[in-house]
Amino acid sequence: MSESVIVVENLVKRYKELIALDHFNLDIKKGEIFGLLGPNGSGKTTTINCILALLKFDKGSISVFGEEMKPDSYELKSKIGVVMQNVAVFDELTVYENIDYFCGLYISDKKLRKQYVEEAIEFVDLGEFKKFYPKKLSGGLLRRLNIACGIVHKPELIFMDEPTVAVDPQSRNKILEGIVELNKMGATIIYTSHYMEEVEQICTRIAIMDKGKNLAIGTTDELKKMIKRNETISIEVLEIAENIISLIKELPHVYEVTYEEKMLKVLYSGGKHNLIRILDLLKNEGVSFGRVYSERPTLNDVFLEITGKELRD
Ligand SMILES: Nc1ncnc2c1ncn2[C@@H]1O[C@H](COP(=O)(O)OP(=O)(O)O)[C@@H](O)[C@H]1O
Ligand SMILES: [Mg+2]
Repeated sequence: MSESVIVVENLVKRYKELIALDHFNLDIKKGEIFGLLGPNGSGKTTTINCILALLKFDKGSISVFGEEMKPDSYELKSKIGVVMQNVAVFDELTVYENIDYFCGLYISDKKLRKQYVEEAIEFVDLGEFKKFYPKKLSGGLLRRLNIACGIVHKPELIFMDEPTVAVDPQSRNKILEGIVELNKMGATIIYTSHYMEEVEQICTRIAIMDKGKNLAIGTTDELKKMIKRNETISIEVLEIAENIISLIKELPHVYEVTYEEKMLKVLYSGGKHNLIRILDLLKNEGVSFGRVYSERPTLNDVFLEITGKELRD
């Protein structure tokens, strides 16, 4: 395994009586796009704020690049880029001036600073809007400005807290492509979201969070293998007798069969040739059927099986 960039051990964070993080653990390796996936209120932002030493915590330990992060760890912070959930830019500065301001916090060389600002503007594709003030930007463009401000100094480690919330599809795709590109250029990325499709699309590993706990961790494939559901086959059937449903239940790997609204739904816990077996059975029993669908589990199924509730709001 490659080197750890962030290690969080047994982190406990309370807001008065509320336990926002409950013995939370993480080990993020160099070069990952690590996804924190969980519903609103599960503790994603609190985790990031604790790692960045923006919040005090009650118990546990955190190290970043092998060091303890403190509010005044300036050296450490210069290697880190943060794109917060709430857009944080200056209304009285233009797009260019905002990005230049954030760059100036870490880059003192004038020529390099100018080059980095230009590169960041190009990266988020805001060239046409350099002289615009934030108030004149749409939600998606404002997010892109927020991102440019966070990454302009070319940090090795980047935190992005729900950067695609309330963003139009075009900006959303740009943001996701941008994250993958930053990663290809060498940055380690922590990405939080409650959109499982996005996390599935870009993350190398994912931690599923709920109520301040890290419930499961792994690649998308590993997470999907943790659950019982492996495949769902749905078949349009106009009519089917109870005894045939019983026969289906006895097929290998089948663990649940339902028949509702002319749709026969069969859940499998694994196996191969499931489709052939069930279609053969239906043919042999003289059951006529229409369209057939096969689905692999989604991260929502993983979330559902682990927590007993849907991830979708
Ligand atoms: N400053 C705060 N004071 C009190 N409770 C808070 C505060 N910030 C967050 N919380 C609570 O902590 C829990 C985790 O919140 P948060 O980390 O923002 O979750 P997420 O980012 O996953 O939506 C929620 O129940 C939230 O209401
Ligand atoms: Mg949050």
